[in-house]
Amino acid sequence: MSSEGLSNLLHEERTFEPSEEFVAQANGTAELFERAEQDREAFWAEQARAYVQWETDFEKVLDWSEAPFAKWFLGGRLNACVNAVDRHVEAGHGDRVAIHWIGEPEDETRDITYAELHGMVQRAANALADLGVGEGDTVAIYLPMIPEAAVAMLACARLGAPHSVVFGGFSAEALHSRIDDAGAKVVITADGGYRRGKPSALKPAVDAALDHDDNPVQHVLVVQRTGQETDWTEGRDVWWHEALEAADETHEAQAFDAEHPLFILYTSGTTGKPKGIFHATGGYLVQTAYTNAIVHDVHPETDVYWCTADIGWVTGHSYIVYGPMTLGATQVMYEGTPDTPHQGRFWEIVQDAKVTILYTAPTAIRTFMKWGEDIPAKYDLSSLKLLGSVGEPINPEAWMWYRRVIGGDRTPIVDTWWQTETGAIMISPVPGVTPTRPGSAQHPIPGISALVVDDLGEPVEKGSGGYLVLTEPWPSMLRGIWGDPERYVDTYWSRFKDVYFAGDGAKLDEDGNIWVLGRVDDVMNVSGHRMSTAEIESALVSHPKVAEAAVVGATDDTTGQAICAFVILREEAVSEADDAGEGEDLVAELRNHVAREIGAIAKPRQIMVVPELPKTRSGKIMRRLLKDVAENREVGDVTTLADSSVMNLISEGMTKG
Ligand code: WT7
Repeated sequence: MSSEGLSNLLHEERTFEPSEEFVAQANGTAELFERAEQDREAFWAEQARAYVQWETDFEKVLDWSEAPFAKWFLGGRLNACVNAVDRHVEAGHGDRVAIHWIGEPEDETRDITYAELHGMVQRAANALADLGVGEGDTVAIYLPMIPEAAVAMLACARLGAPHSVVFGGFSAEALHSRIDDAGAKVVITADGGYRRGKPSALKPAVDAALDHDDNPVQHVLVVQRTGQETDWTEGRDVWWHEALEAADETHEAQAFDAEHPLFILYTSGTTGKPKGIFHATGGYLVQTAYTNAIVHDVHPETDVYWCTADIGWVTGHSYIVYGPMTLGATQVMYEGTPDTPHQGRFWEIVQDAKVTILYTAPTAIRTFMKWGEDIPAKYDLSSLKLLGSVGEPINPEAWMWYRRVIGGDRTPIVDTWWQTETGAIMISPVPGVTPTRPGSAQHPIPGISALVVDDLGEPVEKGSGGYLVLTEPWPSMLRGIWGDPERYVDTYWSRFKDVYFAGDGAKLDEDGNIWVLGRVDDVMNVSGHRMSTAEIESALVSHPKVAEAAVVGATDDTTGQAICAFVILREEAVSEADDAGEGEDLVAELRNHVAREIGAIAKPRQIMVVPELPKTRSGKIMRRLLKDVAENREVGDVTTLADSSVMNLISEGMTKG
């Protein structure tokens, strides 16, 4: 955090009141704040009964007696898939479009109604059951952005089989470790997906991920998306369309306990090993639906909602699948990238589908700013009524651009802070109530309690910075780290007594608005995706030519942070590279190695080969100094360095290279 950044936001005084027209139709009202304030648990009980259909009503709202292990809506039983699909059909909304899917190839679209979705999830649940999947079995999902991804998740939920979705951009190695950790019995994948106009294979990564002794997977269910040539393992691999066709068309869904695990989702932490964050059915469904209604202001009868996230991240889970579908919303799902086949693609989609609510990431907004406002200006964006932002801090300039150029100076913007761990939105303006402030997520929503505290855990004064903590349990909170309860307690509940430590630095402005500034641990935020420095370091040192590696996140105008790596080579590698003049090739080789180990999203922007790394006397790498180098700044205080000449060596190397 640069001090310049801090003082800038102190001077941000612009506020935008919601229009009367917006207020008149808004789901979120000031009364919700009062109600939650009076009696938090009664408030959540009301939301739970308003937004979710319970097969058996709950008897108790919260059991926090074994903190930090929470139980919500005790005694309640429900089925998440029935909530997201069946009940809308039963209520007579079967003809409503659930998913207006838009393929990357321009002429390809599919409209899927709730009735059609109902047919698909029943067949898919039966097909999975035929492959031996039942309550409590885990299923890995590795798919592109196609409707089958949502169907697969919902079919698992229908069976009480926790899904573990792995982002399609992750490598075979990353997929392998996630499959193993979750003990997945079945993997659902596709032959391939479209990427920038070309089919790109997915199944080979699954084959490689399963090419290990004692892998737990019995079957691979393969969606045919591109029709490309696909290797086949007889007896193990099954085509999705054949399995669904052979399956029974009706499936009687069973209700599960509110605390039954709904899904696992892996996210990066401060160590090399990703954490399997898991969520429970009842509380998660309640808070995703509630926030989608009061923050995104979704009105299922009239809105066309579009969340641009990939289903492989938590945003896709909460705000493509479970939140909007529990509300019975109509949404756009888009397969491709914002610039395929042209840089106006998003705005063309907004115009053609008459999107009313758009939820995207600051990195995308900054990219659109770079491409220029004449591109969105070519399209009619007047259907939009609300804009949302998520994933990283949004700078006030990008916020203002988003409001003016995309929102026609008219739409409220909700800057929503939350995490994989929180499951749903925690801090955000409530658009019909809160006058918005560009760049700030502002206040905890009704039912949520957050504070900014200092090193000792004491709340900071207005105008000061500190750490973001959550002071009360919430319905969609993670229930733990899969298979590692100790790590759960250590990571989130040990830094400060009795409160959840989010890992983010934050500041409270003079008006009491919370500004989330970014991670304070060894986690980077690249384009709204969390990457751990340790994970990339361990990928780098697994390369035979690398002796040591240090990774830092350097500020980047578009992606928020960019991955910068400093590596020390093994001696043999140094002399070889020198002899052959291969420095550049080696850097390319290392970047590709990281892509193979983790995925292309983890490729460092820069790799600098250095003779030494700056370390303290106790051997801890001083990332702060490397960050100074990566951000082209004067190197800061070096008095705690074991060897103070190291920084000179590194800086010299930099100017040479
Ligand atoms: C981390 C969580 C939330 C779903 C997508 C990312 C950062 C998220 C904001 C925001 C500032 C934000 C935080 C957080 N973050 N939203 N509105 N303002 N920072 O989920 O991968 O679990 O990452 O993203 O650093 O801790 P995630």
